[in-house]
Amino acid sequence: MKRNLASQLRLKSLLTMVGSRKRSNIKRPTWIIVLLSLVIIFLIGAYVYPPRSSGLCYFFYSRGCSGNSGNANVFSRELTDEETASQVVVREILKTPPLHSKNPKIAFLFLTPGSLPFEKLWHKFFQGHEDRFSVYVHASRGKPAHASPYFVGRDIRSEKVVWGKISMVDAEKRLLANALRDPNNEHFVLLSDSCVPVHNFEYVYNYLMFTNVSFIDCFVDPGPHGTGRYSEHMLPEVEKRDFRKGSQWFSMKRQHALIVMADSLYYTKFKLYCRPNMDGRNCYADEHYFPTFFRMIDPNGVANYSVTHVDWSEGKWHPRSYRAQDITYELLKNITSVDESIHVTSDGKKTVMLTPCIWNGMKRPCYLFARKFYPETLDKLMHLFSNYTTF
Ligand SMILES: *[C@@H]1O[C@H](CO)[C@@H](O)[C@H](O)[C@H]1NC(C)=O
Ligand SMILES: *[C@@H]1O[C@H](CO)[C@@H](O)[C@H](O)[C@H]1NC(C)=O
Ligand SMILES: *[C@@H]1O[C@H](CO)[C@@H](O)[C@H](O)[C@H]1NC(C)=O
Ligand SMILES: *[C@@H]1O[C@H](CO)[C@@H](O)[C@H](O)[C@H]1NC(C)=O
Repeated sequence: MKRNLASQLRLKSLLTMVGSRKRSNIKRPTWIIVLLSLVIIFLIGAYVYPPRSSGLCYFFYSRGCSGNSGNANVFSRELTDEETASQVVVREILKTPPLHSKNPKIAFLFLTPGSLPFEKLWHKFFQGHEDRFSVYVHASRGKPAHASPYFVGRDIRSEKVVWGKISMVDAEKRLLANALRDPNNEHFVLLSDSCVPVHNFEYVYNYLMFTNVSFIDCFVDPGPHGTGRYSEHMLPEVEKRDFRKGSQWFSMKRQHALIVMADSLYYTKFKLYCRPNMDGRNCYADEHYFPTFFRMIDPNGVANYSVTHVDWSEGKWHPRSYRAQDITYELLKNITSVDESIHVTSDGKKTVMLTPCIWNGMKRPCYLFARKFYPETLDKLMHLFSNYTTF
């Protein structure tokens, strides 16, 4: 037995030796061949696709090269120190596969001035799913009175929020930061006091958890309420052609929430140069910072639509707000059946863009939540809730 084992071991080491000798014999010529082929491929590539600005750009910065040719020279510019640092951090976070918790939760982030008129409805929505969600409330004007135990003790430290100012983004970041402290939170949804759920919990949970994108609204509006708000003070880091618009009501996967925590470069650009009365124009950071930032750092990681429905079809300054008499089974069915997101440009053409809502490669209904509802709609919504959320 013993001898047998010893001879086996000897045989094994002999094989290893043969193997390694073989490998070292092969090593040199293989490397030379590989190197030569790479050089040849590079030369052919350079010949077939003559570089417009910098040849390296084809290999290292494909997004830049497919952009407007007028801007091609921009990509030969050197990155600033902050940009280099930012790219390194963002790429590292994006390529680190997310650690999945055994008990994954969705964090519901409520951004509200005070008490939440729909707590009773949310209570109904959450009931029975206690280990799969967590609630955070940022009440900017005073401590809210809570009607549901799911909301009691869930207020975070808050600060005043001024509509259209950076304090709005700060409050969103504050909610994200607090929710990130719980490692079980894997997806983060921002909601307002006038927001209601239009599907049951199970549906919402699966929709958000079983996808690898964030639902961040993002589109190009060439008009005065879109690109017209861009300021060249944002150069060189934020170019006009990257400037995007979108609703502030996002949902975000954990990786993206972490990236938001890590970003100070782009945040500062928007804080300083996208604000009311900037160069005589009004820019609202909450409508541009996330759409532009994610468009730049992870364009394929965002769905480009918000999962919160809102009706702008009246074409006024504020979206349609639903009164008690508007609340019908048909209205809610209508909202849940929409499967194309709608964007209208603010220029003279008022171009309407319909984009299918694609969820993991399939066309799906777009909306999980809706706004804006007056508090008076609560009773009717409570009454209809189990009906419109079953299918
Ligand atoms: C998300 O998953 C789909 C397939 O399920 C894949 O095609 C896509 O590349 C993924 N996107 C990201 C950003 O990982
Ligand atoms: C979102 O839009 C960007 C272009 O801005 C595009 O590259 C990306 O594929 C879009 N995302 C999805 C999920 O379609
Ligand atoms: C529902 O949608 C249909 C078709 O778009 C429309 O005719 C109807 O007025 C809508 N009903 C409500 C209550 O919004
Ligand atoms: C709920 O739906 C059923 C069948 O669709 C209908 O008969 C019932 O009246 C609805 N209830 C309410 C409260 O609308």
